[in-house]
Amino acid sequence: MFDIKDLYQEVIVDHNRSPRNFGKLDDADTTLEGFNPLCGDKLTLYLKTDGENISDIAFDGSGCAISVASASLMTDAMKGKSLEEAEKLFNEFHKLVTTDDEYDAEYLGKLAALAGVKDYPARVKCASLCWHTLHSALHGENTPVKTE
Ligand code: FES
Repeated sequence: MFDIKDLYQEVIVDHNRSPRNFGKLDDADTTLEGFNPLCGDKLTLYLKTDGENISDIAFDGSGCAISVASASLMTDAMKGKSLEEAEKLFNEFHKLVTTDDEYDAEYLGKLAALAGVKDYPARVKCASLCWHTLHSALHGENTPVKTE
């Protein structure tokens, strides 16, 4: 029988094996590092905006399957979004992985595959690493981000 969890698992495996937007963005206007002190994993986020929209976004670094899949899904979802939409997506994702509040599943799309991490606090940090890094980058912060 069809189980949504299998589909979610497939999305995570696929994005970990073939991460989208992986690599350096040479013409990025913001580059910011994210670091998970619990495991030592690091990622670098590259962002290019035109002042209103995210025109390009990429990441590289090393991390567990959840952190890579989350960064891959996030960059895919964020590309082309306005800064306002990006903030909404950040808030919906934060709700998805840290609360029992109702979230906008349609807006989140494939990102809903990460819903299961909510029950595992260490995994929440894995999934959130790229998101906090992007949030800081969008808010003009330039000190490396730590998940703590
Ligand atoms: Fe390091 Fe997940 S175990 S980010």
